[in-house]
Amino acid sequence: TSQSIVVVGSCMIDFVSYAPRLPQKGETIHGTQFVTNFGGKGANQCVAAAKLGGQTTLVARVGEDLWGDKYIANLKEQKVETKYVQKTPNFSSGIAQITVAETGDNQIVIVAGANTQLSPLDVEKAKSEISAAAVLVLQLETSVEVAVRALELCAGVSILNGAPGLSHYDARILTLPTIFCVNETEVELFTGLAVTTQKEAEIAAKFLLSKGCKSVVLTLGAQGALYVDKTECLYLSCPSVRCVDSTGAGDAFIGAFAFLLATKPDLPMAKVLESACIIASDSVTRSGTQISFPGKEILDKCPL
Ligand code: RIB
Ligand code: NA
Repeated sequence: TSQSIVVVGSCMIDFVSYAPRLPQKGETIHGTQFVTNFGGKGANQCVAAAKLGGQTTLVARVGEDLWGDKYIANLKEQKVETKYVQKTPNFSSGIAQITVAETGDNQIVIVAGANTQLSPLDVEKAKSEISAAAVLVLQLETSVEVAVRALELCAGVSILNGAPGLSHYDARILTLPTIFCVNETEVELFTGLAVTTQKEAEIAAKFLLSKGCKSVVLTLGAQGALYVDKTECLYLSCPSVRCVDSTGAGDAFIGAFAFLLATKPDLPMAKVLESACIIASDSVTRSGTQISFPGKEILDKCPL
């Protein structure tokens, strides 16, 4: 429908250890707490939009295991449409091994499992929803072929989150989406350009435009975000908050971005992105990913 959001992407079970700091290579350290959460960039972005009140559908795969059933139940609880979330025989659900330091910094290793089996055919099954969506959202924890097929079917606005980043890739992941969105480490993989300053961020984002991106959002952690297209270049800052857990902050940002593009299509880009920054910043003040994302009440704090 006219305000619907479709996310094609991953579901992971996050195995999260909290520790005083991130371990060095070859080092063992004592952590302080262990929890399991529902994660994965695709599902996180979808749930972020759903919690804000978005009408969301997820196209994804979970394993044919206990985690898969629990995951689908979680999505239903968050009011995400799950008819295109399939269980995958002989594959385990995707898992993410996450360490979160006291500073809120994190390190993540994913074993994608069932997510590797999400196919262009699965995308095809959701063709009518994808082509009718106001906003389509993709990431790279599932295959590039899946993202490309979904982008080809999309008639609305599309956001491709280039995460995890790639240094060798099909150029269509840059040219097909309306908005290509990456963080400072991912952009280095895509462009070969290191980004530590605002100036470098702008150079890297403009390089992506020169490679055929229609528009680029570069998220810069606590420094906010940068938006560029052929005519505009915007810097958005983030409210300063006490960071407890930055895991999934990028997903909160993209989910909010998609929600606002779908529900407030006439809102100026600067306000959309400023709001997405406020929502992502709020999420880092609480532990976890989906469980930490704010509900509709946060919209009162946004310049809408
Ligand atoms: O972006 C955060 C997410 O990345 C985590 O939930 C984890 O599952 C990994 O996919
Ligand atoms: Na969080």
